[in-house]
This record gives sequence, C-alpha cells and structure tokens, in this order.
Amino acid sequence: MRVIGLVNQKGGVAKTTTASALAYGLARNGKRTLLVDFDPQGNLTVACGIVTNEGNPPALKLIDLKTSAEIENLEPGLDFVASGIGLETANMILAGKPCRELYLKRALKKFENEYDYVVIDSNPSLSIITLNVLSACDEIIVPFKPEFNSEKGVNLLIETVEEIRQINENLRIRGFLVTMADRRRRSTNESVEYVKEQAQGCQSKVYTSWIRQSVVAADAPKIGKSVYDYRPGSPLVADYEAFVQEFLKEEEDADTRKK
Ligand SMILES: Nc1ncnc2c1ncn2[C@@H]1O[C@H](COP(=O)(O)OP(=O)(O)OP(=O)(O)O)[C@@H](O)[C@H]1O
Ligand SMILES: [Mg+2]
Repeated sequence: MRVIGLVNQKGGVAKTTTASALAYGLARNGKRTLLVDFDPQGNLTVACGIVTNEGNPPALKLIDLKTSAEIENLEPGLDFVASGIGLETANMILAGKPCRELYLKRALKKFENEYDYVVIDSNPSLSIITLNVLSACDEIIVPFKPEFNSEKGVNLLIETVEEIRQINENLRIRGFLVTMADRRRRSTNESVEYVKEQAQGCQSKVYTSWIRQSVVAADAPKIGKSVYDYRPGSPLVADYEAFVQEFLKEEEDADTRKK
C-alpha cells in the first residue's frame, strides 16, 4: 500500500480536483484505492456526492483510536472516507498530545493489505491536520497553478517537507503537477521553469502532463460527479488520463529497476 497526499498550503490550486481525478483514475486502472478527504472544508466529500455528518465526520474518527471510521464505496475498487467542518476540532484534540502528528498514519496502517493506494486530499494550511497528512504519506504530489506568486508557496512547502523528514524519514515529493494552465501566457512557462529548478533541487520533477484550465473542473463537483463521468472525452479528462498514465508508468519503471 502506498499513501499519496495532494498537498500545497496555498489554496485553490486543484488539490481536491486532482485527488478525485487521481483516485478515480487509479481505481479504473484496476488499483484498489481508498480516497480520504482530510480537509475540514469537505469539498471533496461534496464533489463525490456524499452527504455526511459534518459535525462529526468519518475523517475525525480516523484520529480517534477507539472507533473506526465509516467507509463508503464510490464504485468498484474505490472507497472513500468523508470529511466536514468537525474535522477542524482535530487541531484542538491533538494539540496537547505527544506524537500528535502520527494519528492518521496509525489509522491507515489498518488498511495495509486492503488497498494498493490511499490518496489523501489535504487542506490549505500547515496545521496539525496537515502535519498528520505529511506524516502518513510515503509521497506527496504538489499541484500548483503557474502564476506570478506561486513560487513562494512552493519554496515553503519544500522546506516543510525537509522538516517533516525528522519524523517521516522517507517522505518524498513525487512530483509537481501544473494545474489550471493557460499555455498561451508567457508567465505560465516562466513559472513552470522556476518550479522545475526547485524540483530538481529536491530530487523531484514537474510532471510532463499539464492540466489545462477548463470549466469542466469547476462544474463537475457541483453535481457530485467525477470529471470522467461528467464530461468523458473532454480535453480536461484527456489531461487527467495522461497524468494518471504518467503516474502508473513511474511505478512500472521503478519495479523494472528493482528487478
Ligand atoms: N483545471 C481547472 N480549470 C478550471 N478550474 C479548475 C481547474 N481545477 C480546479 N478548478 C476549480 O478551481 C477551484 C479550486 O480547485 P480545488 O478545490 O480543486 O482546489 P484546492 O487546492 O483543493 O482548494 P483548497 O485549497 O481550498 O482546498 C474549484 O472551484 C475547482 O472546481
Ligand atoms: Mg481542496
């Protein structure tokens, strides 16, 4: 089981959209996948068409050692843990505890043999909730919107990952994903070039597949459908399919190297 987080403390960069597209994509490629909404905003939960107890959502139960979280099945091969505003209390519940960053990691251990991938959507901050995501992950993917001020956020994230390695030694930034891209703008390329340099500096990379700007991404969550079901055949879906294939290819290449 490999745990992958979509992380960027900057808001509105398509973490949630990408978490959904990656998880549906993996499941439809035959991988047993658990998608976890670990953001108190609960945007992914709404996007998946799930109604939950927002005050005491399943995601909050993940950090409670005495109960187990309800898991929903979204489609064959894809399970889901919903979130809502009540997850915010985790920041207070865990604040005074020793090992407060390790609760999510511990909860996910239970699923070791059940899933090939756990995909976690995180919130735009660096709170205890986010630290739990960073501690639980083997790898993170950093979606970023290539624009003038996105660089600062990327630098801060790289520094945070380095610090987290004190408690999660093998955490690695698997890659940076360009989202909401407008290829016609010169600033887009400038920003991507900058992130490429930063990525190389931390043994990571920027994915070759870029996700373009498209209203499909904005409209699909409103009706609780994945982008694949909402507009199959659209350019946005083609972008996400290419990204999922690039992701799976990395895995194959890594396996070949091991052999
Ligand atoms: N490729 C895209 N083109 C146009 N709009 C997009 C695209 N991807 C996502 N969006 C829209 O942009 C907004 C932010 O996306 P999303 O919620 O995925 O970002 P986020 O990083 O999860 O935000 P937050 O930090 O608040 O959790 C949403 O309204 C979403 O529908
Ligand atoms: Mg989000």
